[in-house]
Amino acid sequence: MTMDATEPRGPQPAAPRAAHRHFLMCRPTHFAVTYAINPWMNPAAPVDQARAVAQWDTLRRTYLDLGHTVDLIEPLPGLPDMVFAANGATVVDGTAMAVQFRDPQRADEAPAYRAWLERAGFDVHDPKHVNEGEGDVLLVGDLLLAGTGFRTAHAAHAQLQEVFGRPVISLHLVDPRFYHLDTALCVLDDRTIAYLPEAFSPGSRAVLRRLFPDAVLATEADAVVFGLNSVSDGRHVVMPVQATALAAALRDRGYETIGVDLSELRKAGGGPKCCTLNVREKGTSE
Ligand code: ARG
Repeated sequence: MTMDATEPRGPQPAAPRAAHRHFLMCRPTHFAVTYAINPWMNPAAPVDQARAVAQWDTLRRTYLDLGHTVDLIEPLPGLPDMVFAANGATVVDGTAMAVQFRDPQRADEAPAYRAWLERAGFDVHDPKHVNEGEGDVLLVGDLLLAGTGFRTAHAAHAQLQEVFGRPVISLHLVDPRFYHLDTALCVLDDRTIAYLPEAFSPGSRAVLRRLFPDAVLATEADAVVFGLNSVSDGRHVVMPVQATALAAALRDRGYETIGVDLSELRKAGGGPKCCTLNVREKGTSE
């Protein structure tokens, strides 16, 4: 980039820094909507599986183009939601908490993700309660934000705190459309989040205001297109292309937004973040 000598040289906000990420994804080879475990799923509506794969592939390519590492787990037949890798575990600093799904339809995904993490050398702990992984557990700086109300049990939060040795902040989700924490709240960097206040109980809203007074507040219009189901590396935010107002708000804060279209996967109630598990190796705090 060249500098134009005539440009004003006042203090510029520092561009946010991008951190390298290691992601695990699962190709939607067996993707379908054959049951309904959230309000977005309608087994009677047609799903274009080939289109889902193409959209997912664009997401994977986007991460690779940003310089991130993407590992793949083998998709298993009969598990149409396995593409939602965020629900496969919570992984921080080389330690992994395996998952226990609320719904029997997804139960067999848990051992598959567990086995992948063991093979990859992570120290894997078994959940004692319903725990849907990074769908409900998000790391921001030194804190873990944990959702409850629909999927992950409140009791699971205490186990997460014990296993990871990081403070866990329990947040109560109240709108069935935003049934996982990652549909209502997005971590932008180790201090900043975006969220939809109405998706949380009054007490949880107050907690979020107290902890993150500078948070980006999303609108319902952004959230219903899964705008908060976005993936940030601290600088680039990969997000549903439909979430235009949120994208503009993020750009105002200095983030670079990259829109992707995951409209087929949305039919199962998922977006970019749902398809993406952060596998944080030992020595990487993020
Ligand atoms: N159909 C899946 C379910 O209801 C979607 C999971 C979305 N994943 C997420 N991390 N929000 O379980």
